[in-house]
Amino acid sequence: MRRILVTGALGQIGSELVPALQQHYGADRVVASDVRIVPQQLPAGGIHEHLDCTQPQQILEMARRYEIGAIYHLAALLSAVAEEKPHAAWNVNMDGLYNILEAARQHRCQVFFPSSIGAFGPSTPPDHTPQTAIQRPTTIYGVTKVAGELLCDYYAGRFGVDVRGLRLPGLISYVAPPGGGTTDYAVEMFLQALRYKHYSCFLKPDTRLPMMYMPDAIRATIELMEADGGRLRYRNAYNVAAMSITPAELAAEIRKHVPSFALDFRVDPVRQSIAESWPHSLDTSAAREDWGFAPQFDLASMTLDMLTRLGAKSSPAVAE
Ligand SMILES: NC(=O)c1ccc[n+]([C@@H]2O[C@H](COP(=O)([O-])OP(=O)(O)OC[C@H]3O[C@@H](n4cnc5c(N)ncnc54)[C@H](O)[C@@H]3O)[C@@H](O)[C@H]2O)c1
Repeated sequence: MRRILVTGALGQIGSELVPALQQHYGADRVVASDVRIVPQQLPAGGIHEHLDCTQPQQILEMARRYEIGAIYHLAALLSAVAEEKPHAAWNVNMDGLYNILEAARQHRCQVFFPSSIGAFGPSTPPDHTPQTAIQRPTTIYGVTKVAGELLCDYYAGRFGVDVRGLRLPGLISYVAPPGGGTTDYAVEMFLQALRYKHYSCFLKPDTRLPMMYMPDAIRATIELMEADGGRLRYRNAYNVAAMSITPAELAAEIRKHVPSFALDFRVDPVRQSIAESWPHSLDTSAAREDWGFAPQFDLASMTLDMLTRLGAKSSPAVAE
């Protein structure tokens, strides 16, 4: 069995996907890589490498050296960061993906590509957005995600590369901090509710976006990659989400456990306008029908688990 390469492995998703892959396939079969230097406090064991996805030779060398058979390509600049640095975003998100697909073509690797709700835009029907809908995003992040979906389809159709992908919603998690996206407010709200009982949200109270808890995203990723390819009508990128929530609704749920939690708003116009160009909720029926997508966490169970994991039980903040 050939090894698995994860790019962008030190980010919000990689920090949980790498341990899950190690557990599922064996620690010696997973090569975790990132352009960032590996922090010293990482648990011993497992393979960690420096890899810049904009450097094709580095990817090819890694594929050869470790006999890579699958690549989970997580390296990217996220929506808010990309809007600050559009040229760098194109370079990392597009050239990086092209380099990965080329390495996959040459070494016959399977590829996982995480697209995003950012691949939709203001002209997309925002409620229960269908699997196939108009995609005219107005952010550079969204442009790279739509172009990425198409490039993946091209490599699958033209060269037979087994590329699969999810259109991920905002992901809520407690292991690693989010990397500069528009839905980061949700994770920040949990942390600050516990630490300060107060949070100033950068999105307006009624901004509705699709979200999912990280354990559901990790399971969905592995399930999609193991699914019978013959049953996949879309390959990439499947709509997935588990809830559709606003900052006000999340705050109300947190307040059930932290009664004195106070929320106010200091709206960031850039991230607010990005959020307003995205869907409110997604139709995930294609993922459910084709490969059995079934998220386990809703708003209530995710909130309880997040607070528990973040140490809420022992915090005086929740002993009120
Ligand atoms: N987290 C979410 O809510 C979310 C939602 C939708 C889609 N996604 C997509 O999932 C993927 C991973 O997201 P994430 O939240 O873990 O992002 P993140 O920002 O937390 O992590 C990205 C990682 O990529 C690394 N990186 C940046 N440039 C690189 C380069 N040139 N070469 C190699 N590594 C590089 C960064 O150091 C970082 O560790 C991205 O493609 C993102 O667009 C994430």
